[in-house]
Amino acid sequence: MYEKIHEAVIEAGRNLVEKVNSTFTVETKGSDVDLVTEMDKKTEKFITEEIKGNFPKHTVIGEETVEDIGHDKMLEMLATHPNLWIIDPIDGTTNYVHGLPGYTISVALYCKGEAVYGIIYDPVAKELFIAERGKGAALNGKAIRVSEQGSLAESLVSTGIPAKYESDRNHVLEGYVKIAPLTRNVRTFGSAALHCAYVASGRLDAFWEWGVNIWDIAAGRLIVEEAGGSVYQLDGHEVQFDFPHFTCTNGRIDKEWKETFASVHGF
Ligand code: IPD
Ligand code: CA
Ligand code: CA
Repeated sequence: MYEKIHEAVIEAGRNLVEKVNSTFTVETKGSDVDLVTEMDKKTEKFITEEIKGNFPKHTVIGEETVEDIGHDKMLEMLATHPNLWIIDPIDGTTNYVHGLPGYTISVALYCKGEAVYGIIYDPVAKELFIAERGKGAALNGKAIRVSEQGSLAESLVSTGIPAKYESDRNHVLEGYVKIAPLTRNVRTFGSAALHCAYVASGRLDAFWEWGVNIWDIAAGRLIVEEAGGSVYQLDGHEVQFDFPHFTCTNGRIDKEWKETFASVHGF
């Protein structure tokens, strides 16, 4: 049912890899460190057209065009629309601009507030993570599961340094100081979607961040859930569409994980 979308995402990824060292425009948006390139916009346009070509009755929202709709309208659509696609054309634009690997394309389909299909593609590693609600998650066609790690002390966890708000960055760093000594180590690859995909495939045991947007984790949350993991806000509440903080784990370290963040942030 979604093969054409897989093909489109792989083609878009191939194009990103081909152009990574070329000259493309780079601008800033929400803050001086929040980057958007010509390649983000072109990729979003290409995937949007492919989705519309294959699913003419569906609606598509992309990170780079969401302003046309407006934040409140987007939240309303997420909750009520029967066939709403959400695209992050390059998750990890900063990596892309610096010629680093670890950028991804994230595409998800939501039905009345529920993620029903999600895809994350890492075009450098050629890794395609997919989940369909109720059908499990897969990496390049092979089923994936979260890790079985039960202790924080032996866990490899991850975070992101948000681009937009100073306070969000500080919150992440406060959590980092507390959690790092309790874990095996912490990784920061620069793409929230990739962190989710790595939790889903058992490479990482958890991911947390403040200030992520719905398109960063729209596919990742389903892929983690379908791989057997947990997804919630850092304060333990269910993830809303306008969430302040986000986490996903293998579901086995949650007690220590939640207690640690509660002690840092006073939840
Ligand atoms: C960013 C990446 C990054 C995360 C930021 C996101 P973008 O997305 O996911 O890892 O730390 O919070 O904004 O801007 O590259 O699409
Ligand atoms: Ca993103
Ligand atoms: Ca992006």
